[in-house]
Parts: sequence; structure tokens; C-alpha cells
Amino acid sequence: MARSAFCIAVALGLLCHAAVAIDAAQSAASSSQDAFVGEKLLRRWREMLSARADKGEPAPSVFEQAFTATFTSKQAGEVERTLEQLSQLMSWVEATPSPNATQLAFLPELRSDAARELASLALALAKSDGADAKALAASLNAISAKLQSASSWRGYAAVRRMLVGAILKKRVDFGGRFPLEVQAAVDAVMLQLFQLHKLSVANRGAVQFFHVSKSGGTNLCQSAEANGCASQGFDTRTNCLIRDFADQPRWVTYNAHKYVQYRMSSRQALPWFVNFHTYRAELTCDQRRAYLLRNGLTFYANEYTNPPTGIPAGASAEEAEAATSGMCEDFVNLIMFRHPHDRLRSQIGWVQKLYKEFYLDTDTQRAFVNRTTGFWERLMPAGVNNYYIRSLLGQRFFEFPVTQVLPQHVTLAKLAALQHDILLSLDAKPRNELALRVGLGWAQALRDDVIRSSAELGDAVALPIDYSTMLERNAPDVEVYNFAREMQALDTLLWNFVSVADAQLGGGSNLSTDKCGYVSMGSPAAVQERERRYADVVIPASSLRTGGVGVAGVTGAPPADTAGAAAAAVRAAEGGEQQQQQQQPAEQKEEAVAAKHQEEANTGTGKSVLRGAADGADSGSTKRVISISRRTRSSSHRRLLH
Ligand SMILES: *[C@@H]1O[C@H](CO)[C@@H](O)[C@H](O)[C@H]1NC(C)=O
Ligand SMILES: *[C@@H]1O[C@H](CO)[C@@H](O)[C@H](O)[C@H]1NC(C)=O
Ligand SMILES: *[C@@H]1O[C@H](CO)[C@@H](O)[C@H](O)[C@H]1NC(C)=O
Repeated sequence: MARSAFCIAVALGLLCHAAVAIDAAQSAASSSQDAFVGEKLLRRWREMLSARADKGEPAPSVFEQAFTATFTSKQAGEVERTLEQLSQLMSWVEATPSPNATQLAFLPELRSDAARELASLALALAKSDGADAKALAASLNAISAKLQSASSWRGYAAVRRMLVGAILKKRVDFGGRFPLEVQAAVDAVMLQLFQLHKLSVANRGAVQFFHVSKSGGTNLCQSAEANGCASQGFDTRTNCLIRDFADQPRWVTYNAHKYVQYRMSSRQALPWFVNFHTYRAELTCDQRRAYLLRNGLTFYANEYTNPPTGIPAGASAEEAEAATSGMCEDFVNLIMFRHPHDRLRSQIGWVQKLYKEFYLDTDTQRAFVNRTTGFWERLMPAGVNNYYIRSLLGQRFFEFPVTQVLPQHVTLAKLAALQHDILLSLDAKPRNELALRVGLGWAQALRDDVIRSSAELGDAVALPIDYSTMLERNAPDVEVYNFAREMQALDTLLWNFVSVADAQLGGGSNLSTDKCGYVSMGSPAAVQERERRYADVVIPASSLRTGGVGVAGVTGAPPADTAGAAAAAVRAAEGGEQQQQQQQPAEQKEEAVAAKHQEEANTGTGKSVLRGAADGADSGSTKRVISISRRTRSSSHRRLLH
């Protein structure tokens, strides 16, 4: 008992220290509505442990309860599956002590010395064998101390998962509940990780939702609205996209469409979804963040690819060269995955539905029955081939020929997934609910009633006759999905830990606010720092699609009334859309038909879609994709994918 009291005291000292740091950061924050502020949580936790220790009662084993609540499927090997992905990640950490510029673009948190040191502490812990309580408590205390020096601007999503994973691995080594002295050290690390995450969400102040089409994202935009987030529009046409960013999904290629249209003996105008080569201005992460800030927005969806990162300050020549696309680290990054095979089926059905609704008096199904994988890859080069990897790796990669998804691309996509603060997967509903409630502070759950699916099509979806080939070629995406799913399991362990800890403290903490959760909880100091960071970011009016819309708010000082500015931007955007449509009366009828059935038309109906497609018709870029797609019929692709 003497020993455990001592260890609790050690842990309490660290908790006190952490509490002071948080106190300073949030000194002026109004936390009246937030009963779950880190400082409060830690103080209450400390008091609860002391009270118990005084009475000679053991501390509650919160980690054990979280463990049981997380791995519930009773499936054999559930924990092992998570540990296997963790072990692959740790092997990468071990083999990559100094990530290069490309790797850092997708995992920018490892630019921080503290994060790299924490990663190596996690590695050492995960590699240690056996059940030495004293050694484990010492390692955890060293990690606790190191966590104090981590910047509260970053959530350290990657390091967080490595540490939680390492603790999980030790739990398995111990074969059951941790001894008391270990438990206190585990509690400290878990609470610190949550606190760091939450504070960094509040500091960054806006969510970038990476919406990979046909993965259930529309649902999430609706949920953002229900939780009081500010975005440019939550209607099903806007779907949380920002018009000026041109992030709508890219689907069908012009040349392959022409072939389909010829087969259908139809001569109608170009459908809006023939938009594979639609132009997107190269707005960098910083420009995007500044745009949201100046328009008072806290949430937006990107349904295309990771944007260009811009060149980091003080970048080496190597880094400047490698700076193409990557993760936007000043956003809170949120992504929803879905099993790639389910997504593929949904994607293929979706396009058939679009054709059917566009060519109302034509038997469009004829064009899709008994087709090969090659046909689909020409029609939707990215949509049916490793869409997650293509989207995560950026615009240049998005248009890569199908033969070029290589193991190093899978690794980069996994790093990008890992850098997301919140990971969801469509089929893990209870885990998603928990992630949104505890991880983002959203009170309103995901809404099931707005899920769109190709089941609405009614008809059977015509899959390619060699569908198994298509599934094989998407094996790299399945690998990324499997990784992301297990990383979500590690998150779940942390979110469950926080939930259980809250219950131990008497519960009743309301994690959420009505203003988009934690992102609206930045202290005045954090808000000031945010404005300082982006004050000098210039967004050229020429790169905005709405031609001047938002420019006043975009290049000037932050507007005093951000809500008013946001409303003005939305009004202006709507005006801009109208203007564009007036310029193309010929497209209006088709557009109206398409829009009636197909809400995701959104910004893809504008003239740039048509311009992009028309340009593509005689530009080298379309020819390149088509000729390269033919190469995919060659026998060499399988070797490259496996
Ligand atoms: C970084 O390392 C990866 C994996 O070894 C490699 O594929 C990539 O080309 C490297 N990038 C740079 C800029 O060296
Ligand atoms: C598709 O192929 C099957 C089997 O070869 C054949 O029975 C069917 O008639 C074909 N359908 C069309 C529309 O060509
Ligand atoms: C938590 O707070 C939000 C707004 O602050 C409110 O809408 C919600 O109903 C509260 N939840 C509970 C369980 O009290």
C-alpha cells in the first residue's frame, strides 16, 4: 500500500503540473458550459484518487474498463488485429528515424522534436517484452514528462495512437489488469493525451472533413449542421463544400463518356458529371484556413484531394521540391472510411443512376451491362481504382494511371490517414458516435435518415464481368482501410477511457457545446494567435471561382461580425452561381433535371466543369489518361500491385 500511495503521488505531481500548463493556456477562457475542460477533469481525478487512497480503497481500473468496452466483438483475434497494424506502424517508425520531405508532407506532426521523441518512447515501450511493473511505470512517467513539452497547437494524432497502442500492447503482455502503480501512470498518460487533443482542437478552431465520395459523408455534413458548425451551406447541393475551393468530386472522363454516349446512340449535351478534368485553383492549406477564418466558418468538406500544402517556413530545397500536396495541419482533420469493396459497388451503381436520370428516354443500362474493369477504369480512372489513396495523395497523384499505385504510395496514404485527428469508418457506428461525442464534442449523433445510397437506383447494379479483377486491383486501398480501421480502434480505447473516467467522477459532464463542439472553445489568446498566423496570407482574387466573392473578407482584416460576413459570402456565392447559369442557358434544362434527382451536382454544374471537359477533349491530358488506361490491360499491372 505504501508503494502504491507513493506512485499515486508521483502521478498526481505530474497531473498537477499538467493542470497548471492548461490553466495558463485557458486562463481567460469562459468554461462555464464546459464541465469537461482538461484542467477540471485532472483536478477532479486527482481529488478522487486521493480520497480513495485515504480510505485505503484501490483506484478504479479505468483502462481495463475502456479495454473491455472497446474490444467487444468477442471475435477471436480482435485485439491481435489492432496490435498487428500497430506493429507495422512501429516498424515504419523504427526504420524511419528522420522522415524525408514527402513523408513529412503527409505526417507533418513529425516535424516536431517532441513528437519524434514521443514516437521513439512509444516504440521502445511497444518493443519491450514481459510484465515488469516498475519498468513500465518508469517509462510511462518519462512519457508523461515529455508530453508536457508538446505544443498545444497540434493534436499529435499519430503519436497519440502510437502511445495508446503501446499501452495496449503492455496490457496484453500483463495478461490482464495492470498493477496499481502502473495504473496510476497509465491514467496520467491517457488523460494528458486527451487533454492535448482537446486543447489543440480548440486552438485550431476549424474542421476539414475529408469527404471521400460514396463513403457516407453527406450524413456527416448534416451532423455538422445539427451540432452548430458554421459552413458555407448544409443543403444537399452544397454539402459543406466551399464553392471557391472547387473541391467537388471528379467522376467521368470526357473521352470515355463520348464512347458511352455513342453506344447509346444519344446526342445530348454533356452531363455535369463528366468532370474528371475540372480545373481547381491551387489554394494552399494556409489560404484555405485563412479563408475559413475570415468568413467565420468552422467546418468545411473537401471531396476531391488533399490540397497543396505550400512550402513550409524554413524548408530545405529538398522540402520545397517535394511540397506538392499533403495534410493541412492547421485544420482539425476528420475522415470517414468505408470498406473499399462496398464503396466500389456504390460508386458503380451511382454512376449508372446518374446516366439513367440524365438520359431519361434512353435505355442506359445497355451501355453498362457486361462491361470489363478496363471500361470502368477508362470511364472513372480514379473512382474505381484505389480512390482513397488517390484522394489522400493529392491532385497530381489522382490522375496517375492505374498501374502506378506502388507500395510506397500505400505507405504515404497510411501516414495521411494517421494524421487525421478523427478517424471514422462507415460500418463502425458505435465507435463513430463515440469519436464525434468525445473526440469532437458533438452532442448530436450521426443521422441515419439522410444516407444516400445506390440502392435508390432500384435496378440491379451492373458490375463489370471481371469484377474480381477490379477488387484485386483495389487491394492497396483495402490495405489502407484495414490500417485506418485499427487506428480507429486505438482512438476508441482513448475515447472510452475518457468516458469511463467521467463516469468515475460522477458523470454528468456535458462534453458538447452547441457551437460545433471543441472547435469553438479556443481561449481569447488562442483566437488572437490564430488571427496573427493568417493575417498575412494573401488569397489572389483570380484563384477564386466566384470571381471576387469573398475577396473583401479574404484579403482584408478579419471582419468584425464574422457571422454577418459568412452570410454575405453565402449570399454572394449564390449570386455568383446564378450569374454563371445565366451565361449558359443551353445547360439549364439538363442541369435542372440532374439537380432534381441528384443533389451532389453542387458546384460541379458551373461553367468550369464544361470548360474543363471541353479543354480536355483536345488537350494532351485527356489523351494521356486514355492511352495510359489501355496499358492497364497489359499483364504487368498485377505484379506491380502485389
Ligand atoms: C522519401 O522516402 C520515400 C520512401 O523511401 C520515397 O519513396 C520518396 O521518394 C522519398 N522522398 C524524397 C523527397 O526523398
Ligand atoms: C451479358 O452476358 C451474358 C452472359 O454471356 C448474356 O447472357 C447476356 O445476354 C448479356 N447481356 C447483354 C445485355 O448483352
Ligand atoms: C449539452 O449541451 C448542449 C448545448 O450546450 C445541449 O444542446 C445538449 O442538450 C446538452 N446535453 C445534455 C445531455 O445535457
